[in-house]
Amino acid sequence: MRSLAWKNGHLTILDQTKLPNIIEFIETDDYRRVADAIRRLEVRGAPAIGAAAAFGLVLGAKEAALTVNDFWIKLLAISEELRQTRPTAVNLFWAIDRMMSVASRYAPGDSPIELISALEQEAIDISKEDAQVNSRISAYGASLFADRQAVLTHCNAGALATVEFGTALGVIRRAWTEGKISRVYADETRPLLQGARLTAWELMQEGIPVTLITDSMAGWVMKQGMVQAVIVGADRIALNGDVANKIGTYSVAVLAKQHGIPFYVAAPVSTFDFTITGGEQIPIEERKAEEVTSLGGCRIAPEGTTVFNPAFDVTPHAFISAIITEHGILREPYQPAIAKLKLMKGGND
Ligand code: MRU
Repeated sequence: MRSLAWKNGHLTILDQTKLPNIIEFIETDDYRRVADAIRRLEVRGAPAIGAAAAFGLVLGAKEAALTVNDFWIKLLAISEELRQTRPTAVNLFWAIDRMMSVASRYAPGDSPIELISALEQEAIDISKEDAQVNSRISAYGASLFADRQAVLTHCNAGALATVEFGTALGVIRRAWTEGKISRVYADETRPLLQGARLTAWELMQEGIPVTLITDSMAGWVMKQGMVQAVIVGADRIALNGDVANKIGTYSVAVLAKQHGIPFYVAAPVSTFDFTITGGEQIPIEERKAEEVTSLGGCRIAPEGTTVFNPAFDVTPHAFISAIITEHGILREPYQPAIAKLKLMKGGND
């Protein structure tokens, strides 16, 4: 299962807004369509939007090259347009920065053809590395699980949220094959139901036992002793270990602490923002009211209802038992462990 694929200069995106009922692909060679796909959540999940934006930039560079004189101005404008698509997941900015740093090696007088091929190679590398990184995260993560535990997850941090395999669901996949997981409880994840539509679907495809619950049931499931661990992905991690992830993650972390259940975060180095010291500096995306007032296209609240719809929240590091990365497992005190991670290649700074 892949969220996107690049072939012959075209980007194919699995349209996640239609899942699980319809499996439909968006095929495009227009960077604007890629930007729209990110905005609309047709492609979503921190690593997946980073990879999509990288390919979007390749398509944008090709278009910019048609106007020889303005090439650099256009390329910069396109990179800005892609940056504006979503504010919270730092992988988006990490991928665009990586692409623009390749571009910066070329002089204004150089032929854009060579530059475009270098950009294409970088985007392909970003997407290939994603699968390798996730495989390493899953190996570290699986080592945290004992025999036949039930785990709870929130939102979707699977193959759909990355290019392949997934972060939190990657760990679950690996632990499942090692016989360490008996069942996954998936929060439905209101308002857009990534847990119900995507996580339940992904796990069922592979025969991993999954029980869907509404978000409000998580506390009771924990109280009943039905889960022994929680594992989620991340959209941005600050230097002190505070983690932004899908709205509702914070509530799950508080509940896990109350019930003495370990709360794990699985994320690649590209999700760390080494420029910010704490979670309060993470920009939280607010999305339109209709996502809350409607369900499956049907209005469920009175017309004109005032709505607050933050797409993410921040879990303070004190609630996090461990952060699983491709370079190993980080624990409190997070600040020095994350500072050390900064020295390894691939992070945001
Ligand atoms: O709004 P979304 O669906 O893009 O939010 C996705 C999440 O919050 C995921 O948990 C996160 O990006 C980690 S994906 C490996």
